[in-house]
Amino acid sequence: MAKKVLVTGANGMLADALCPLLRKAGYDVAATDINGDSGIIKSDIRQVNSMLSVVKEHRPEIIFHLAAETDVDKCELQPEHAYNTNWQGTENIATICKELDLTMVYISTGAVFDGGKEGGYIETDKPDPISIYGMSKLKGEEAVRSLLSKYYIVRAGWMIGGHNKDKKFVWKIVQLLNSKPEISVVTDKTGSPTFTSDFSRGIVDIVGSGKYGLYHCVNKGICTRYDIAVKIAEFLGKKEVVIKPVTSDAFPLPAPRGKSEAMLNHNLSKLGLDKARPWQEALKEYLKNI
Ligand SMILES: NC(=O)c1ccc[n+]([C@@H]2O[C@H](COP(=O)([O-])OP(=O)(O)OC[C@H]3O[C@@H](n4cnc5c(N)ncnc54)[C@H](OP(=O)(O)O)[C@@H]3O)[C@@H](O)[C@H]2O)c1
Repeated sequence: MAKKVLVTGANGMLADALCPLLRKAGYDVAATDINGDSGIIKSDIRQVNSMLSVVKEHRPEIIFHLAAETDVDKCELQPEHAYNTNWQGTENIATICKELDLTMVYISTGAVFDGGKEGGYIETDKPDPISIYGMSKLKGEEAVRSLLSKYYIVRAGWMIGGHNKDKKFVWKIVQLLNSKPEISVVTDKTGSPTFTSDFSRGIVDIVGSGKYGLYHCVNKGICTRYDIAVKIAEFLGKKEVVIKPVTSDAFPLPAPRGKSEAMLNHNLSKLGLDKARPWQEALKEYLKNI
């Protein structure tokens, strides 16, 4: 019989790749989100009792906890909302996993770091978030670690993917390239692009390994937002659009961003499971299918 699993945040960008992949890998997936949709069970991670009823009804062996407030600026402006969702919500899921003896997979972020390291953070580097979003996700990690022994925490970088769920950088740049003769893109922050399809395969491999713990799972290569925009324009054949390099002062935003959120897949490499391909290849594949 197929192994039962439950996914939170199933309406989101990452779940767009992860849920189909889990089904393809033979898992029986119960999908949940704050907004119920066709095939998605409506359930708020902040409501521990209603989450517990959903989990008891579906009896999964693993919970993939993706649900989060991912709008970094909204988190900065509404810290209580950020902590309720990303910290308390995660603690609720971890508590349920503890009570029912389930394995938990928690998706975290490179925003837990302060951004001062060049060359990419590895799993043993000390987190020190500079934004509310980063802090709320780190508190989520700490809750998982303190309550459970059967857990995987997997940190992603700048997410690429999502199709109609994409509301992040790639989607924004595609809209701008389709509508403006000139766009400005930031050159003074670096990160690790993370294609949702590749990341999902990484998660399935990590869980398949049975080696609990903390993992970074990003595509290969460190780049700026400007580098990504240039590649998007190239892959979409938008040669006529001028892409102007600017520093982040040109876009004042509520939440601070570290100079670098780049990561390296150190623990995946140690297990021989680092299958990351260069971010440019992943981006090209994504853009072919949007
Ligand atoms: N996107 C990135 O660049 C990125 C990078 C690194 C790590 N991550 C992490 O990866 C995970 C998945 O992110 P994603 O990119 O798929 O984000 P997403 O597209 O924003 O998906 C998150 C989903 O969770 C839902 N949600 C929010 N609050 C909830 C609640 N209280 N109860 C139940 N569901 C709730 C959201 O609904 P609404 O849309 O209605 O709020 C959304 O459908 C998150 O944990 C995120 O922190 C993301």
